[in-house]
Amino acid sequence: MTTPDFAALKKDFPILQTERHGKPLVFLDSAASSQRPQQVLDAMDYAYTHAYANVHRGVYGLAEAATNAYESARLKVARFIGAPDSSEVIFTKNATESLNLVAGSWGRANLGPGDAVVLTMMEHHANIVPWQMIQAEKGFEIRWIPLGDDGKLDLTELDTLLDGAKLLSVASMSNVLGTINPLDQLIEAAHRAGALVCVDACQSVPHMETNVAEMGADFVAFSGHKMLGPSGIGVLWGRMELLEQMPPFLGGGGMISNVTTDGFMPDAVPSKFEAGTPPIVEAVGLGAAIDYLESIGMDAIRQHEIELTAYAMRALSERLGDSVTIHGPSEPSERGGVLSIDLEGVHAHDVSQILDSHGVAVRPGHHCAKPLMKELGVNATARASFYLYNDTSDADALVDALADAQSFFAP
Ligand code: ALA
Repeated sequence: MTTPDFAALKKDFPILQTERHGKPLVFLDSAASSQRPQQVLDAMDYAYTHAYANVHRGVYGLAEAATNAYESARLKVARFIGAPDSSEVIFTKNATESLNLVAGSWGRANLGPGDAVVLTMMEHHANIVPWQMIQAEKGFEIRWIPLGDDGKLDLTELDTLLDGAKLLSVASMSNVLGTINPLDQLIEAAHRAGALVCVDACQSVPHMETNVAEMGADFVAFSGHKMLGPSGIGVLWGRMELLEQMPPFLGGGGMISNVTTDGFMPDAVPSKFEAGTPPIVEAVGLGAAIDYLESIGMDAIRQHEIELTAYAMRALSERLGDSVTIHGPSEPSERGGVLSIDLEGVHAHDVSQILDSHGVAVRPGHHCAKPLMKELGVNATARASFYLYNDTSDADALVDALADAQSFFAP
């Protein structure tokens, strides 16, 4: 198989042809939300222009075409993540809603006093707050896997933390540190302890091969907007026998098999969890995003990002020396393309503003991971994150702009 020409991919992304402050846009905030290629925009435009109606309701031809397009997106997602059954793929609003669905449905039905849920110190708020909300209602314990060396989890007490726990909920990759967590080890230990495993896979599904069957988790959540798809659509994959036992999360049209004045009967999975008009055209866009990613190949994307991350880490250290700290694993193959940067003497918001004046877009702040930031002893970092459309010229622009920020604030 020939290596894709990553430098040429930029031309597929209209927004990457634009300028900011008179400079070409260098988009380094894909961990927050990616950009979309023309192919995704065209697929959504076509769906709105030629094939739009509500799904699973009308019997006219247009409604059937829209329903087919929506359901074929579900099939694509299922194939992309190696789901044994496409009905196990539930469309939500985003990964946050997917995790709220697990906490609000499975958690509310299964957790109570004396139970424990295990999280890690590197979770995004989306994998913390939903559990804390249900904890306030149901009164179970939340335990935390601590942070160890080099931005990795400290797993020395893993078995003790999992002892008697009902669920482990863990990020596959940290959105701050880039750390790729050892899911095999975590899932094996959790299942041995009798706990289910929920994986927040937001940061990994867009960047590397995912196979939920091989992974062996019980729930996997991710978003469309971080993987070249539109905002407004997320996915929860779950094992069918669990989904079948779980109560509905949201109530309304589309999720029932019958309603009377006395009550309702939920529909089968996945409809049971898709109340109201779903993200129809967003699903079409997500399907087109998957086509695009598959045309490049997930292994090639992962390899490109490892090489780009290694290049950027080397360039940052050569040019800025000890004045720059990059949080997370020092070995590029153990991390994703997320670089959370501290520039000595310069606040992350100031760094980001100077970078913006160079056309370089990065995210400053706590990255929705306040417990982790407290552990790291920082209030904010400037986070640069790479995707398939970035290349070494973008890493060079980042380094040049950081050198400018350093000379501007700490001459
Ligand atoms: N979860 C997204 C981020 O890390 C929004 O920026």
